[in-house]
Amino acid sequence: MMKPAAPLPSVEIDEASGTVLLRTTYSVYVLRVDRVAGTVRHVHWGAPLPLADAVTLPVWSEHDNSFAGRWDGVEEYPVDGGARFGVPALEVRFPDGSSPLEPTVLAVDRRAADHVVVRLRDRTRPLTWHLHYRVPADGDVLERWTEFHHTGADGDVLLLRYASAHWPLPHRPAWRTGSVHGGWAGEGRLERSVLPVGETVIGSRRGHTGHHANPWMAWDAGDAGEEHGEVWVVALAASGTWRLTAQRTAAGRTGVVAGEGHEGIELRLAPGGSHRTPVSLALYTAHGFGQASRDFHHHLRMHVLPHPEEPRPVLYNSWEATSFDVSEDNQLALARRAADLGAELFVLDDGWFRGRDDDRAGLGDWTPHPARFPRGLRPLADEVHRLGMAFGLWVEPEMVNADSDLFRSHPDWVLHQPDRTATELRNQLVLDFSRPEVTEWALGWLRKVVADNAVDFLKWDFNRAFTEAGAHPAGPDARRVHVEHARGLYRVLDRLRADFPRLRIEACAGGGGRVDPGILARTDQVWPSDNTDAVDRLTVQHGFSQLYPAGVMSAWVTDSPNPLTGRVVPMRFRFHSAMAGVLGIGGDLTRWTDTERAEAAELVRVYKDIRPVVQRGRQYRLLAPGEGPLAAVQYVSEDGGRAVVLVWRPSTAFGPALPSLRLRGLDAEARYRDEESGREWSGSTLRSFGLPLPELPAGDCASALVRLRRIEDPGPGPGPGPGAGA
Ligand code: DGJ
Repeated sequence: MMKPAAPLPSVEIDEASGTVLLRTTYSVYVLRVDRVAGTVRHVHWGAPLPLADAVTLPVWSEHDNSFAGRWDGVEEYPVDGGARFGVPALEVRFPDGSSPLEPTVLAVDRRAADHVVVRLRDRTRPLTWHLHYRVPADGDVLERWTEFHHTGADGDVLLLRYASAHWPLPHRPAWRTGSVHGGWAGEGRLERSVLPVGETVIGSRRGHTGHHANPWMAWDAGDAGEEHGEVWVVALAASGTWRLTAQRTAAGRTGVVAGEGHEGIELRLAPGGSHRTPVSLALYTAHGFGQASRDFHHHLRMHVLPHPEEPRPVLYNSWEATSFDVSEDNQLALARRAADLGAELFVLDDGWFRGRDDDRAGLGDWTPHPARFPRGLRPLADEVHRLGMAFGLWVEPEMVNADSDLFRSHPDWVLHQPDRTATELRNQLVLDFSRPEVTEWALGWLRKVVADNAVDFLKWDFNRAFTEAGAHPAGPDARRVHVEHARGLYRVLDRLRADFPRLRIEACAGGGGRVDPGILARTDQVWPSDNTDAVDRLTVQHGFSQLYPAGVMSAWVTDSPNPLTGRVVPMRFRFHSAMAGVLGIGGDLTRWTDTERAEAAELVRVYKDIRPVVQRGRQYRLLAPGEGPLAAVQYVSEDGGRAVVLVWRPSTAFGPALPSLRLRGLDAEARYRDEESGREWSGSTLRSFGLPLPELPAGDCASALVRLRRIEDPGPGPGPGPGAGA
């Protein structure tokens, strides 16, 4: 979307009124520090307005009576204490067992042009908390996080709730909330519903981000659509246990508290100790859910992903072809065929290490399986490199099977609680990555495996949720591992990447169980689902795209019938579905016919042509899967010179008229040529009438791909249409 020039993101402060205005490219967020009341009140979050107005805007407060919460819903960081009855962002227990906090404002510090900190402390107790606000350049995303410091000399302070932020929403008569939910092999189902009065919680108590919910929520006043209307989004960059609590008060205030942890997961601060929360990200746009997604994609590319400029390679992964039954010979056979198809990265999946004949044993013993790889992995890696591909390897460093030498030597390294059964899921236990000796061990073998085998890429898996998660020995904050495990994981990933700067990593947790902005800061792509059915995948991908860009979304073409669903899907549809992200291939290539392999090779060639547009372009969701006979998505290249349209008809039906595809993000005054047919249209036609629906083969699972290129010298055309660039 072309937008008018806007002021640069910045922080503006009016000392006299205590007003702080955070200006993103197309929005403004205003708070006011009230030193008398000892609080920070929220004033505005939405369309831009000048500081001169912001300083005079009134601050909402509830009707004053002896049952009312004085500022419920409109404090920037509500604490447990005083006449506050809403969801607290901060709740503590002091050494004497008391809880209520009495905040006082210490200072407002401008740390940089884009970063301001409001420092608060308890009136008498030894606790300070610092509210950080940052306005990253070039976008509409705001970042907030909080730091806590125990400033006393005696006794521990328990943090019961320690949110990153509370994001108050403006007053609207009704609110609709959107989020994704699902489960293993069914991630990414988008749901929008009216936000009821009360508290609505989404989160994970599982120790990982979760398939069942993803840490973001979107809001609109019930009137936004894909490309119009005001939308607010809040997300959390956390990969452990987390919680987003949306609250709508009966008096009409709405907001969300976003943070790590959950009920009963407490953090202990020793004297002198401190804790920093993960970042919560949020944005406002006046241009619908699609623009909210594009703004987030842009932010992740500009400020989060380690190598956003790199094209992600076409990978081949052996999991669905050989499962645990891997060997040097069968992987070589697959690698040769994968190279012939144009794959650029070959990934050896589970089963390559000692004791790993199925999922009952081996996790923890990370040396090559002597029977399957008698010469080790290096000969396979070398041959993969000789074939012109990078070499990738599956690992699951945070897990151990009870049947492993590691567990026999270190049974105490797993998450467990005294006198409780350590529950096994998928026959495995979770290693406690909050313990330095465990992360040092992991780092040690990972460095060796990567160096010894010239590994270019790791698929980093995590295949079960936490149970009996506690510290050793159990203490008052025994369950802090729900928060600290992910920090240990981040440290391992950060150090491994520092040691091997060319190593690339895919995050996987039994599919999409660990997709969040925190893990994306230290991985290069994610595996969104173990469901590779090309039709089901459209729904997964639709949900994924709400926050995450196509350039990090792995998608494989696997065999038909699909091993999970049994659905028969033509090769072309399977490719078109996977070409909407980072294309991979995961079928048993030794069983594909010559004709199938020739078709696949041609589709890989086409993907490489559209790759920069799909992986780095702006994404427009034209038609959502499940809402009509068609699903369609469009990408526009960074420079606006190319557009790619993918359209799918999962099942056919006699009767319903099929629409033309009204494209977006094109210049109404330019002309575009279909690179296959040579037909030309003006941007205004493509936006208004739409791209005539490409011919789809008869029957179920029909699909098409259209590549459009802007014609540099359009010559005399039909003339510009209104609203160019929307
Ligand atoms: C779960 C992953 O999502 C799969 O792709 C595969 O790697 C298996 N684990 C291997 O155990």
